[in-house]
Amino acid sequence: MQYDFTARVNRRGVGAFKWDEMLSENPSVPEGVVPLSVADMELENPPEVRRALHDLIDAGPLGYTGATDRFTSACIDWQVRRHGWRPEADWIVTTPGVVPAVFCAVSQLTEPGDAVIIQPPVYYPFKRAVESAGRGLIENPLKEVGGRYEMDFDDLAEKAARPEAKMLILCSPHNPVGRVWEISELRRLIEICVANGVTIVSDEIHNDLIMPGNAHTTIASVMSPEEMKSLVVCTAPSKTFNLAGIQASVIYVPDAEFRARFKAGFEKLSLGGLNAFAYTATTAAYEQCEGWLSQLIDLVWTNFSRLVDWVAQSHPELDVAELQGTYLAWVDFRSWDLRDEELKAFMREEALLWLDEGDLFGEEGSGFERFNLACPTDVLEAALARLDEAAPRRGFGKNC
Ligand SMILES: Cc1ncc(COP(=O)(O)O)c(C=O)c1O
Repeated sequence: MQYDFTARVNRRGVGAFKWDEMLSENPSVPEGVVPLSVADMELENPPEVRRALHDLIDAGPLGYTGATDRFTSACIDWQVRRHGWRPEADWIVTTPGVVPAVFCAVSQLTEPGDAVIIQPPVYYPFKRAVESAGRGLIENPLKEVGGRYEMDFDDLAEKAARPEAKMLILCSPHNPVGRVWEISELRRLIEICVANGVTIVSDEIHNDLIMPGNAHTTIASVMSPEEMKSLVVCTAPSKTFNLAGIQASVIYVPDAEFRARFKAGFEKLSLGGLNAFAYTATTAAYEQCEGWLSQLIDLVWTNFSRLVDWVAQSHPELDVAELQGTYLAWVDFRSWDLRDEELKAFMREEALLWLDEGDLFGEEGSGFERFNLACPTDVLEAALARLDEAAPRRGFGKNC
């Protein structure tokens, strides 16, 4: 089946985070300007998911609802088919989002006085999770080597050996730099963490959004049962199928004792399962939407190529990080030599572009912008055209 990824969606006035932010900053933003910030899609959901949700409402009533065997099988079969590993059914903990799972892991699986390692520039709630739990923060920044981001293993080995280091939050694939970690990289990280008794929380929410020529490796698939004793793997259908508002995440915690400690964080707030829509949407997505996903990946890849071509033709002074995974492009504007606030003001006020500014992801992201490519291609092209108009007025670009 051919899906339509060209239709514009109208998200004004429905509480969509990125639209509300744009419209509150500039209530008279012209029709047709679409924000490219927060990581959800300017695209319709897969029709199969919409149909399943309609059917659920028609069948009613929407009483207390828990996981069915079919839901569990859909989650496991997806991991087997798409990622080549088979988690056990009882490893699953459902949570109303990956961010709540990360927050819970930090507070439940570390103790006061412990510290948690993150790898900036990285998805900013990781730092917030550590700070809100009152744990120490240890940063192991990624390094740029010949235009690509890599982990700094020497630095990691030194920091993981500190007695207070007890957990590492891995972003795999990495938001915002777009890396899909190779098995050799994952194994080096595992060896360092295991040798130092550092728990790994692997946030794999972007695991299905893998660009041509790359393959995602679920960290659990390259760990021994012994190594998996203190492991949390976070997955969800939310990024893959644009279901963030459904708040459904599927977390795999292989070790029973570790899982009980993790779950206790939700249990003490009496937060058990998901909502009725979450089970149905997740099951439909995982059972029926592989075709939609493969066309989505084509779209993201097309959009990324447009962005790369635009940089080559109009703005060779910028650099675009290689997109291996996620639908988020990481663009280096440091050659413009603007302070972060100036770059943000230029984007929003002069180019009418709402992106995520790089410094949101840590000081390593200063001077960068993150473009959300999960939109119809003409939306991206219109955004680049606005940049083309605004940039020369400031003397930026090839023709200046
Ligand atoms: C790495 C990463 N983890 C988690 C999330 C959000 O998770 P959730 O909406 O399930 O809380 C995002 C959203 O962009 C993300 O990029």
